[in-house]
Amino acid sequence: MNLPKIASISRKILVACVGLFLLVFLLVHMGINLCLLRPDDGEWYSIACNFMGTNYIIKVFEVVLFAALIAHIIITVALQIQNWKARPVRYHQPSKSKTSAMSKTMIWTGGLVFVFLALHFVNFYFVKLGLVEGKYMIQTEHALSSSELQAKYMAYTQGKLSPEEMATFQTEMEAVQGLMIKAESEGLYSDDMKWIRNLSAEDVKPVEGIVEGIEPDFYNMAFELFGNKVYSVIYLILFVALAFHLIHAMQSAFQTLGLNHNKYNKFIEGFSWVYAIIIALGFAAVPVYIMFFV
Ligand code: HEM
Repeated sequence: MNLPKIASISRKILVACVGLFLLVFLLVHMGINLCLLRPDDGEWYSIACNFMGTNYIIKVFEVVLFAALIAHIIITVALQIQNWKARPVRYHQPSKSKTSAMSKTMIWTGGLVFVFLALHFVNFYFVKLGLVEGKYMIQTEHALSSSELQAKYMAYTQGKLSPEEMATFQTEMEAVQGLMIKAESEGLYSDDMKWIRNLSAEDVKPVEGIVEGIEPDFYNMAFELFGNKVYSVIYLILFVALAFHLIHAMQSAFQTLGLNHNKYNKFIEGFSWVYAIIIALGFAAVPVYIMFFV
């Protein structure tokens, strides 16, 4: 793979900056995930997901995040291929350096994180994009009173609807009522009654385009996914690979940016380990909790 003609050091600086950005993203993502553990019937988690899904600043960040992720993968894979090409014959003397041993596994732990992301997007993110079916939730006030439905109701009460419009309106109202009855009879309301949750794709199809704000129900999706021990174990194994990737990633980023110094190197090394372990344990807490305590 040929990289555009930018100096190798600029590429390394770009990888370092992007890497540090991804490290901060992981901390935020982990914080949001930990809301899943709060015994509040998913209230905090749903609020956080709703905010992340609707806030415009976050939407811009999402574009930056994906650009960063893609840039990170392309540049690091290309650099690795260049390294392999530059040194096709292995040295006879195995390296005794701890750092170089760790850095050699970066491409493999990175590959595992990539595999994780592919699986993870199919499990969660692609539902948001409508590429995969999942579970859905609707804010109760949206189900009851979308602005379009209200306008039609006003027109209906004032006798302003044509017979065809009347027939459509009645079908739509029946679909909404059907949803409310299902929510009531199957206990799909959240404790605070603000959400109807745990809806299947079949449940929401009849009201699509009628009620506003149908969102993925990531809370129930996470509980369903990690209720399956095979998925939990796969996720846990990949979190270990993520931790190893992050330990070296952080040290390497600091070095590239010239922020290392003999005086602080021990601190940076320790900090990288602590950060990576906190991230891995924080993410692992969700599947472990669901596997053993739910
Ligand atoms: C138990 C662990 C995890 C759970 C339950 C989880 C859950 C989720 C959910 C629900 C979304 C969609 C959020 C939305 O778009 O509103 C998401 C997106 C995403 N996750 Fe995770 N995640 C976990 C671990 C990870 C890890 C370890 C990484 C990185 C290595 C990661 C990277 C991403 C990325 C890049 C996105 C897309 C960007 C975004 O929507 O913010 N996730 N995750």
